[in-house]
This record gives sequence, structure tokens and C-alpha cells, in this order.
Amino acid sequence: MLLNLLSNAVKFTERGGEITVASEMTEDGCLRISVADTGIGMVARDIPKAMSTFGQVDGALNRKYQGTGLGLPLVKSLAELHGGGLEIDSLIGVGTAATIWFPKERVVIGD
Ligand SMILES: Nc1ncnc2c1ncn2[C@@H]1O[C@H](COP(=O)(O)OP(=O)(O)OP(=O)(O)O)[C@@H](O)[C@H]1O
Ligand SMILES: [Mg+2]
Repeated sequence: MLLNLLSNAVKFTERGGEITVASEMTEDGCLRISVADTGIGMVARDIPKAMSTFGQVDGALNRKYQGTGLGLPLVKSLAELHGGGLEIDSLIGVGTAATIWFPKERVVIGD
């Protein structure tokens, strides 16, 4: 899941941009892991498309980015199998933050 999010962050961010990976435990015990970039971003109305199977923003044949459009729907499905989910916040030209979260019941805390 992280590899998919990281490969998107690298692919959709120009050289010299920044990618940040962060994790947090929320008050109610959920684990949230986010991958944020300073890349091309997306407009809000395109985010549901980006999360759908084979959905690509600007999916024209001549688009400059490679891929099949399956990474995000896979990440979303896997997170949902754990009872969690995938959230995406994005601003065009500013960047994207993709966050996967897992409910308390799926989080094992070491000794
Ligand atoms: N970090 C991001 N910044 C900007 N756009 C993104 C980002 N991540 C995803 N997208 C948009 O969402 C679309 C779907 O992403 P997804 O990972 O499902 O497919 P892909 O990267 O095109 O191909 P694949 O992951 O199957 O190799 C991308 O094609 C792109 O248009
Ligand atoms: Mg991808």
C-alpha cells in the first residue's frame, strides 16, 4: 500500500519537490499513515475518479504519466478489508496527501 502511494507521489511530483511520510495514532486508537507530496495535485471533483478502477485524471492516450489506474483502488480496497479506508486531500498545483487508516482493532502495539 505504501509502495503504491509513494510511487504516485514520486511520479506526480516534479524534480526538486518534497515527499513526506508521516504516521499518527489518533485518540480513538486508529493508525493513520500519510504520504504527502508537493506535486501537480488534483481538483476535488477528480478525486473520486482517481480512486476508481482504471480511473486516471487526464487519462488521454498521449498523457505523459505511465500507469494503469489500479494503484489507488487497490490501496482503498485493502484498507477497507481492514475496516479502514483511504482519504485523499489535494489542491491543483500545490500537492496531494493520501492517508490510509486502520481501526483500533487492527492495530497491534508492541511491548
Ligand atoms: N500523488 C498524486 N498527485 C497527483 N495525481 C495523482 C496522485 N496520485 C494519483 N493521482 C491521479 O490519480 C490517478 C490514479 O492513480 P493510480 O495510482 O490508481 O493509477 P496510476 O498511478 O495512474 O497507475 P498505477 O498505479 O496502476 O501504475 C493517477 O493516474 C493520477 O491522475
Ligand atoms: Mg499509481
